[in-house]
Amino acid sequence: MKKLIGMGILALGVAFSGSALAADGAAIFKAKCAACHGADGQGTAMAPAFQGNAFIKDSKDADISAVITTGRDGAAKKYKNFAIGMPKQTLAGDDLSAVITHLKSLGAKK
Ligand code: HEC
Repeated sequence: MKKLIGMGILALGVAFSGSALAADGAAIFKAKCAACHGADGQGTAMAPAFQGNAFIKDSKDADISAVITTGRDGAAKKYKNFAIGMPKQTLAGDDLSAVITHLKSLGAKK
């Protein structure tokens, strides 16, 4: 019996550390992107939507990543209807990949 309880605790510990360590694209999106792009990537008066966005759906991860880490402002802007540009974000490694995966899941909506 003691052994069983011990194994249960061990399994819980593994499950917990697993979820705590994995980069969470949805959480990063909520914290850093949702204010401008909308909680569900539906777009706002400040920034374009990701839902149904061809750039998100068809681009290579590297091209999406470039926009996120270098930003897109001034003459480089694609959407003249939004007053502001895309501010460059300090994201890298697993966090950056996780956010791109999340953008793609939003892009696939609609
Ligand atoms: C302060 C507002 C703001 C924040 C915060 C913001 N963005 Fe943007 N983003 C914009 C604007 C405005 C554009 C459109 C730029 C243009 O005209 O090309 C944009 C464009 C983009 C594009 C290109 C979309 C396309 O259709 O070409 C991507 C990708 C993007 N943002 C990702 C992100 C991610 C990921 C985050 C969070 C880590 C984020 N943005 C945070 C304002 C923001």
